[in-house]
Amino acid sequence: MATGKTDFPVANIRRYLEPGLIVLVSSAWRGKTNIMTMGWHTVMEFSPSLVGCMISGGNHSFSLIRRSGECVINVPTTALTGKVVGIGNCSGTTVDKFKKFKLTAEPAQEVNAPLIRECYANFECKLKDDALVDRYNFFIFEVVKAHVARRPKYPQTLHYTGDGMFMVSGKIISRRSQFKPEML
Ligand SMILES: Cc1cc2nc3c(=O)[nH]c(=O)nc-3n(C[C@H](O)[C@H](O)[C@H](O)COP(=O)(O)O)c2cc1C
Repeated sequence: MATGKTDFPVANIRRYLEPGLIVLVSSAWRGKTNIMTMGWHTVMEFSPSLVGCMISGGNHSFSLIRRSGECVINVPTTALTGKVVGIGNCSGTTVDKFKKFKLTAEPAQEVNAPLIRECYANFECKLKDDALVDRYNFFIFEVVKAHVARRPKYPQTLHYTGDGMFMVSGKIISRRSQFKPEML
């Protein structure tokens, strides 16, 4: 038994391990657009810039992204918390989420999926590898274009811990001087 700790259900370890930065994924297919909220993603490579995303097969976004092979990963700040939760709790099959949540779709440069103007950053993605999609709903995207707001340098972002609870990014600490240059 680990000293000073209690048994914890393995199905809930997400609370501690989830990368947690909450993003909004926008997509488009044949003139229809959609948005979903996503927390299960991971950076996989610098160059090419690869990001892996778990998008449930039951989501409307899944079929738009599977068909178009594209999406935009948009980074909201805490100013959009209510919209982030609303978007993640309804389906694009019945709702036009840009309209319902009063968000502005802007044309992207490299993909047909729209950027969400109100988000702090927008990363245009093309599907790079679908080898794990059928088995795990795991899409590997290449970020082909990135747009980031000039200010603030460190936006206040949302981080999900499950169970309807979020953490908010906080104090910034620097340890740059202790890093090997190649590790920065
Ligand atoms: C905080 C939060 C995080 C979520 N993370 C994911 C995720 O990583 N992958 C996923 O497939 N769904 C995730 N969801 C659920 C989808 O956003 C939700 O099913 C949404 O309604 C899908 O919309 P769509 O059917 O219009 O695509 C999350 C929802 C919330 C509220």
